[in-house]
Amino acid sequence: MNTLGIIGGTGLPGFDGLQLQRRETATTPWGTPSGPLLRGRIADRPVVFLARHGAPHTLAPHAVNYRANVWALREAGVREVIAINAVGGIGDEYPPGCLVIPDQLIDYTWGREHSYCGGAGRVLQHIDFTTPYSAALRERLLRAAPRAGLEVIDGAVYGVTQGPRLETAAEIDRMARDGCGIVGMTGMPEAALARELELDYACCAVVVNRAAGRGEDIHGELERWVESGMAAVRRLVQAVLAETVE
Ligand code: HPA
Repeated sequence: MNTLGIIGGTGLPGFDGLQLQRRETATTPWGTPSGPLLRGRIADRPVVFLARHGAPHTLAPHAVNYRANVWALREAGVREVIAINAVGGIGDEYPPGCLVIPDQLIDYTWGREHSYCGGAGRVLQHIDFTTPYSAALRERLLRAAPRAGLEVIDGAVYGVTQGPRLETAAEIDRMARDGCGIVGMTGMPEAALARELELDYACCAVVVNRAAGRGEDIHGELERWVESGMAAVRRLVQAVLAETVE
């Protein structure tokens, strides 16, 4: 049976409902991952959970060792990964609280270790990244949503910024002109690294605020959207796993 990897982002340092079997400390040729791999079962299926920012949340988006994280998951037997990312909504169609399964991304990050090529004896590869997310895994997320009693939005361009600061209003306007619907800081290079290792990778984005200059966010609302959004994500992941055919 396939082991599903789950990378939890802001608001998801652990996974309620995970029946923990082992905490595994991994080392990789690329350094150490953000934290221990939590191996266990959800809906009676094998999973490995990793908190992207560490638990407690200490690693900033640019300081995450994405290469070690993705490598460690693969070494742990994972072949498909659902990545959970908190994001801001740029378009009106992505209000706080909604879940989005993006189908495209634009990478605005810089200076991150973004490839395995040229290290640890790995040959140069020009991966096909035309469609950055696995169509099959996206489909499973979308199909699971109604069974979990959730509405999720099918498709968006996820613009990935460097952070850790939020964007200026002009930067968000530019991203909107580029076609971005949502903005976050952790979607890359994770997705490309997963493709280099031939993992099936899809993202479930949780909109927790309106992007800069796109309307008022009421102080204190963000935590509320993070909490309710991550509760919805847990239901969605459980529904995906409950449907998995061996
Ligand atoms: N911008 C960038 N990253 C984010 C945001 C945002 O507005 N919200 C959550 N992550």
